[in-house]
Amino acid sequence: MLVTGKELLLDAQKKGYAVGAFNINNMEIVQAIIEAAEETNSPVILQASQGAIKYAGIDYIAALGKTAAKNAKVPVALHLDHGTDFEQVMVCIRHGFTSVMIDGSRFPLEENIAFTKRVVEIAKAVGVSVEAELGKISGTEDHITVNEREATFTDPDEAVRFVDETGVDYLAIAVGTAHGVYKGEPKLDFDRIKAIRDKVKIPLVLHGSSGVPAEALKKAISLGIHKINIDTDLRIAFAEGVKNYVKENPDAIDPRKILAPAKAMMKEKIKEKMEIFGSVNKA
Ligand code: 13P
Repeated sequence: MLVTGKELLLDAQKKGYAVGAFNINNMEIVQAIIEAAEETNSPVILQASQGAIKYAGIDYIAALGKTAAKNAKVPVALHLDHGTDFEQVMVCIRHGFTSVMIDGSRFPLEENIAFTKRVVEIAKAVGVSVEAELGKISGTEDHITVNEREATFTDPDEAVRFVDETGVDYLAIAVGTAHGVYKGEPKLDFDRIKAIRDKVKIPLVLHGSSGVPAEALKKAISLGIHKINIDTDLRIAFAEGVKNYVKENPDAIDPRKILAPAKAMMKEKIKEKMEIFGSVNKA
């Protein structure tokens, strides 16, 4: 069933687990995520980035997400990942997304507050949950690049002011993760997660979570992270599935056969993540 992001994250916060938010681009990916969620009885978030919307078209991606959610035996939210402009967010709300991220992290604090607040007022009026970002997360997520020098960690006091003034439902924080493939092992600033959680009562969100060791993710969850975004690890699993199949079957021409192992590998990876997040049997 299709539910709001807030509903999922408040339950996760109450029970001390995290909901996986997995990026979607096509039907096989959506199916892999939903099957993993159903087989593990996990609540889940399907998230479409602006790149995914550009690739598939808003009608297709919204229809895929909503159809999957409607038929799923577990609660599913449909979320816009890294919405960077007001119009994009409104289009997603009109297309039935139940959660949107408005990413004003490129702006100075005052401007980020004003930019985010405008979206929150409208989204709240129509029952859609809102995620915002404070601090800058490095790396590239679908065309949006923040280099390591530009990345800045979230300040706990600014987080209090930001949440109070915007009324946002959950907050993405910059605490040492990055989008994309890591060069070395990422070092999370656990003290900062705790300091933010001690001051801010809403669920916190971790971006760039692919490649972060399971123990670090579990610790982050225990300190207040309740939405974990995963894209790169799924891409790697999908690509590996396609490459292996084509290598073993160089004459393959049926897209269904070529994509089946990719979907299966992705599904296993998602189930692994759901175990780590503690969302298994929480649907
Ligand atoms: P990764 O690609 O590092 O998993 O990050 C995904 C993400 O944070 C999407 O917003």
